[in-house]
Amino acid sequence: MRAIELDGVGGPEVMRWAQAPDPKPGHGEVLIDVVAAGVNRADLLQRQGLYAPPPGATTIMGLECSGVIAELGPGVRDWRVGDRVCALMSGGGYAERVAVPEGQLLPVPEDFDLGAAAGLPEVAATVWSNLVTTAGLRAGQLVLIHGGGSGIGTHAIQVARQRGARVAVTAGSDEKLRRCAELGAQVLINYREQDFVEMVRAESSGADIILDNMGAAYLARNIQALAPHGHLVVIGMQGGTTAELNLGALLVKWGNLHATNLRGRPATGKHSKAEVISEVRRQLWPLVTDGTIVPVIHAELPIAEAAEAHRLLDSSEAFGKVTLRVRD
Ligand SMILES: NC(=O)c1ccc[n+]([C@@H]2O[C@H](COP(=O)([O-])OP(=O)(O)OC[C@H]3O[C@@H](n4cnc5c(N)ncnc54)[C@H](OP(=O)(O)O)[C@@H]3O)[C@@H](O)[C@H]2O)c1
Repeated sequence: MRAIELDGVGGPEVMRWAQAPDPKPGHGEVLIDVVAAGVNRADLLQRQGLYAPPPGATTIMGLECSGVIAELGPGVRDWRVGDRVCALMSGGGYAERVAVPEGQLLPVPEDFDLGAAAGLPEVAATVWSNLVTTAGLRAGQLVLIHGGGSGIGTHAIQVARQRGARVAVTAGSDEKLRRCAELGAQVLINYREQDFVEMVRAESSGADIILDNMGAAYLARNIQALAPHGHLVVIGMQGGTTAELNLGALLVKWGNLHATNLRGRPATGKHSKAEVISEVRRQLWPLVTDGTIVPVIHAELPIAEAAEAHRLLDSSEAFGKVTLRVRD
C-alpha cells in the first residue's frame, strides 16, 4: 500500500506519499480500505517530533479515518467485509489501508457521505468523553468552548446545544464567531478584542464547564471564569504546559480541574477508546446519522497534498475540520 511517510521530523515538507508495508488485522481487528482521513492538531505535533505515538502504535500519522471493511481478523463477530465505517485510532489513518480494533468503529449509513465521516470520530469521542462523561454536562448549564471555530469547537457547540446547555465561544475573528452562532453558540467572544472572563460573568455566575485548548496561557483566567462547582477540562496546550495554579481561587469555588487525553487511552477495558466509542454510538451517533448534528468540514484535499492540509490547519484559516481523500 501507499502511506504518508516522514523523512525525519520538521515542517510539512517532510511528508511523502510513498510505499509502506501492508498492515495485517490482528485478533479482534478489522482491515479498512481507507476512503478519507481526518487531520488533527496532534498530527502536526507528531510530524515535528513533539508527540510520539503510544507504545505499540504505528508510526504512520492519522487518528481517524473512514472507509470500507476489507478483511476481518480472528475473533471479529459484529462486523462484515463491505461494511461502511469510520474509526478512532492511535495512528495509521494517512494510508490506503489500516488495521483497527473492532471496538473503535462506528457504522456509516449508506446515505451518509464517507468523506465527511472521516472528520467525525476524533471530535465525537473527544467532545462526548469530556463534556458529558467527565464534566457531566446538563441542560441549563453555561458551557464556555475555547476555539469555537476549531474541529473540536464546531462539534462541541452542537452537542452542548442538543443537551440543552447555553453556549459561549471564543474565536479569533468576527467571521468565525458569526459561523459559530449559526451552529448555535449564543455568547460570542473575540479573544483578540474581548475579555472572556468579563463576558462570561456578565452572563451568569460563571461557566459551569470550560472546554479548554490553551492550557497554561488561560489557566488563571479560566479559573476566574468558572462558576461555583464548575469543571475546567483542559484538552489542549496550545498556550503552553506550565503555569502557576492558585489553589485558593479553585477552592473557594469548589472547582474541578481535569486534563485528559484520548490517544493514550487503552483499546479496551475501563476508560478505553472502546468504552468512549460505545457511549458515542449509543447516545450521540443517532443525532449525527439523522443530520441533527452535522460534520463541519472546511476542506478535503487529496492525500498526496497532506503538506498543504497541515499548512491550512496551522494557518487559523480553517473553520471546522480538514480531511484527506485517499480513494473515491
Ligand atoms: N486531549 C485530547 O484528547 C484532544 C483530542 C482532540 C483535540 N485536542 C485538542 O483540542 C484542540 C482543538 O483541536 P482541533 O483539532 O479541533 O484544532 P484546530 O481545528 O486546529 O483548532 C485550533 C483552534 O485554536 C484556536 N485558538 C488559537 N489561539 C487561541 C486563543 N488564544 N484563544 C482561544 N482559541 C484559540 C483557534 O482559533 P482561531 O482560528 O479562531 O484563532 C483554532 O480554532 C487542540 O488543542 C487539540 O490539541 C485534544
